[in-house]
Amino acid sequence: MIQLRDVILRRGAKVLLDKVSVTLNPGEKVGLVGRNGAGKSTLFALFNGTLHEDGGDFSMPAHWQMAQVAQHMPETEEPATDFVLAGDTRLMAVRARLAQAEAALEAAPDDVDAGMAIAQAHADLHDAGEHDAVPRAQALILGLGFGTEELERPVNSFSGGWRMRLQLARALMCPSDLLLLDEPTNHLDLDALVWLEAWLKRYAGTLIVISHDREFLDAVTDVTLHIENQRLTRYGGNYSAFESMRVLQLEQQQSAFSRQQEKIAHLQKFIDRFKAKASKAKQAQSRVKALERMEKVAPVLAEAEFTFEFKEPANLPNPMLAISEGEFGYRADSGDTRTILRGVSRSVLAGQRIGILGANGQGKSTLVKTIAHDIPVLGGTLTEGKGLNIGYFAQQELDVLHTDSNPLEHMIRLARDVGPQAREQELRNFLGTFNFSGDMVNQAVGTMSGGEKARLVLAMMVWQRPNLLLLDEPTNHLDLATREALSMALNEFEGTVMLVSHDRALLRAVCDEFWLVGRGEVRPFDGDLDDYQQYLLDESRRLRELARAAAAPVRAPAPPPPAPVASPKLRPLQRDLEKIEQRMAALQTEKDSLEAQLAAETDATRIAQTGQRVADLGLQLADLEERWLDISSQIEALA
Ligand SMILES: Nc1ncnc2c1ncn2[C@@H]1O[C@H](COP(=O)(O)OP(=O)(O)OP(=O)(O)O)[C@@H](O)[C@H]1O
Ligand SMILES: [Mg+2]
Repeated sequence: MIQLRDVILRRGAKVLLDKVSVTLNPGEKVGLVGRNGAGKSTLFALFNGTLHEDGGDFSMPAHWQMAQVAQHMPETEEPATDFVLAGDTRLMAVRARLAQAEAALEAAPDDVDAGMAIAQAHADLHDAGEHDAVPRAQALILGLGFGTEELERPVNSFSGGWRMRLQLARALMCPSDLLLLDEPTNHLDLDALVWLEAWLKRYAGTLIVISHDREFLDAVTDVTLHIENQRLTRYGGNYSAFESMRVLQLEQQQSAFSRQQEKIAHLQKFIDRFKAKASKAKQAQSRVKALERMEKVAPVLAEAEFTFEFKEPANLPNPMLAISEGEFGYRADSGDTRTILRGVSRSVLAGQRIGILGANGQGKSTLVKTIAHDIPVLGGTLTEGKGLNIGYFAQQELDVLHTDSNPLEHMIRLARDVGPQAREQELRNFLGTFNFSGDMVNQAVGTMSGGEKARLVLAMMVWQRPNLLLLDEPTNHLDLATREALSMALNEFEGTVMLVSHDRALLRAVCDEFWLVGRGEVRPFDGDLDDYQQYLLDESRRLRELARAAAAPVRAPAPPPPAPVASPKLRPLQRDLEKIEQRMAALQTEKDSLEAQLAAETDATRIAQTGQRVADLGLQLADLEERWLDISSQIEALA
């Protein structure tokens, strides 16, 4: 049980939580919500012990194993699978113990204790799930959208967003009682997001997840903790339930407040009228006391509305951009190129609103980065309209901010770089329109919350007065109100928008046409978002069938062509596959026979036992099937 009693929490001069009390029970799935800067990540710092309460008590069972996603970018040559595997702290500890005991035995071959320790460690390894640790790690990696050919690639070879996904997989690998996830969906696209939802629903421990994604929260959580105005309130229910309870609560509070205000006015009138009269002084005095004793209902504070707009572009070249036979991809330092998209011929016109769709790793960001001049075009031509002024927003853009400088210094630097001199007051006013108030313009960016940083990047982009907006997952970190503001601003924008986003609501609100990036090409997508979801389903079915076909035994009567020499990696996989098939056949036979027994069984206890066993077998079979699919697609990729 996690318990907060009258907890006070500060950051710098700000009081984020003021005497809050809340209890969370084991096994609960909790969504922690609130505006950008409300103090959600700070509360996580209290949970994980990096910060201490400034008042009150915070307690959590001492034996609880906690897992969380490391916030730093991993820098290592370790293969992805090993990196994720190392998240299993229990297994790693046993392995270390084994290595130690083995070393001890080698040093002193008669050391009986070392022998015992080795035996014990082997038994513990089994309990820690050593036998299927690698497939478990790989299932996490594949689930989060990596390809089978990427399982052994060094962590360093992945881009930032993908490395953070590995960081997430590593946290999920850790056997834990409490899992803390701070905006886990930020680096995910739709497929990976759906996979994560399913994984979290099965997670048995206590989960606390911070997110601004309503659909995700609704799918995963059953308790909502809301931070607002230094208070922390617990609601039983998912995000939607929280919203409706909150509306009710606000209405009630509003009417209680009005009623109390009337009563106060009445008492006050009485006091004022009779204060002067000696005969009534006593009554007046008791009314004064009543007024003092009254527990005041707080007024409902209207949420500060936040809106902004893009400036009218100075000009609108048409076309903005013409791509002819474009080739997009990466050029390594060695000079080797990896082409991801080819034969791209498309133009971008003034005023278009293009949503760029495509599954994981198909090249959406590559396309956008190339247009933004972040990486060079590999072939073909990319012609820009005269006066094209690109506003580029990317996840990595947050790293572009200088942690030691404050928002005002950022704006001064930017204004100097892009245009005529601006007065400091003008910049302050401008920052004010982005909700950076007096104090915050002087706060170092390094201490700001994720959403506050994203808002600053947005402000800087608006200042540059672009006519083509290239937005790659712009809503990450933004709270719902700010997303809403962005959505409205984009709708009013007169220039062209190209948008990559996993935020379905934003895509729906902004885009009126879609490009589909996939299978090495960019094509117009003739349909809406619902058609796209269907396309994703069809696509994953197609891939599964391909995998199955590749793994199916050859049944042709003619002798099969000589098998290609299996690569050393292929053989163990094929052996695994065979083992799984045998195991599945055995389980299936057992399940069939139990089901037959069950149909004839009349004894209640035996029905219960057999039913339980059948259900268990079903689960095991489902697991095996999943692994079978995984391995077949690995084989397909290798073959
Ligand atoms: N060292 C510090 N000095 C001053 N203020 C700080 C410091 N660290 C954090 N803050 C402020 O405390 C507030 C809470 O930050 P926190 O990161 O907990 O917010 P959050 O709720 O997680 O927001 P987001 O949704 O944007 O992630 C923010 O306004 C932030 O600017
Ligand atoms: Mg945060």
